[in-house]
Amino acid sequence: MTFVITGAARGIGASTAGLAASRGANVVVSDVLDDVGEATAAAIRDAGGRAVYHHCDVSDADQVRELMAAAAGHFGGIDVLHNNAGVHESMITEDTSLATMSEETFDRILAVNLKGAFLCAKYAHPHLKASRRGPSIVNAGSIAGWIGTIPGIAYGSAKAGIGLLTKNLAVDLAPDGIRVNCYCPAAVATSMVTDVVEAAPDSAAIMKTLVGTHLVHRIGEPIDVARLVCFLASEEASFVNGVVWLIDGGSLAWRGTVDVLGME
Ligand SMILES: NC(=O)c1ccc[n+]([C@@H]2O[C@H](COP(=O)([O-])OP(=O)(O)OC[C@H]3O[C@@H](n4cnc5c(N)ncnc54)[C@H](O)[C@@H]3O)[C@@H](O)[C@H]2O)c1
Repeated sequence: MTFVITGAARGIGASTAGLAASRGANVVVSDVLDDVGEATAAAIRDAGGRAVYHHCDVSDADQVRELMAAAAGHFGGIDVLHNNAGVHESMITEDTSLATMSEETFDRILAVNLKGAFLCAKYAHPHLKASRRGPSIVNAGSIAGWIGTIPGIAYGSAKAGIGLLTKNLAVDLAPDGIRVNCYCPAAVATSMVTDVVEAAPDSAAIMKTLVGTHLVHRIGEPIDVARLVCFLASEEASFVNGVVWLIDGGSLAWRGTVDVLGME
């Protein structure tokens, strides 16, 4: 199996790359953080896996077309596209409310999180269609695509869009034997969450509250999500198609924090 994973320099993408490679897959690690991405691919090779790094900004159609051609050329095809690259508005600006957010910020968040997945699917499609190994696309959604968050106007809109992009691609690509699924994490311990929490003056209190919204009483680790991605991409999930799958430690199962359950 050959995986192409976008945004795989670090976080959930890097964890998925490492897990897939440890299970025998070829992995194309792709990102805009070239030094970090090269190091991630090198670490996989050092551990005995097969991985290469390729630069790609998923919002740029030319770069996406090049990525898919290079990936297919390197490993002889593409079997799994993991649309993992993502960015939250709070990572690029403090102007995240409706009154302050610029049109450029909204466009950028939609371009990376939603259009990027469309472009990657579009240019991976001919290669996935040629695969004889149960090809599939796995898209990164979020619980922020199900409920409102602070902040989240652009990110939440993009992630909600990913859910319906998933279902429509599942319909469109069914005749080609390509499954398309989406998973939606709650908080996972990556830069996307930890940088924001650590930058806050009351970071310990914020983390305690965040943890308390999860019935499992912890936030997720990248490997928790990597395991689901590898399952969705595997033969074991051959009857799973067009789903938007929560992986949220129970956080959307209720409205509350665990202190009311005596779990402080
Ligand atoms: N961490 C969480 O709590 C959480 C929750 C729900 C969903 N997600 C989603 O999981 C995915 C992975 O995020 P993460 O938590 O590992 O965060 P992360 O910031 O560690 O990783 C995101 C990666 O995407 C890359 N990226 C950003 N813009 C890009 C672009 N234009 N082209 C290519 N790559 C780009 C970044 O360089 C980074 O390596 C994202 O889609 C994110 O929205 C994360």
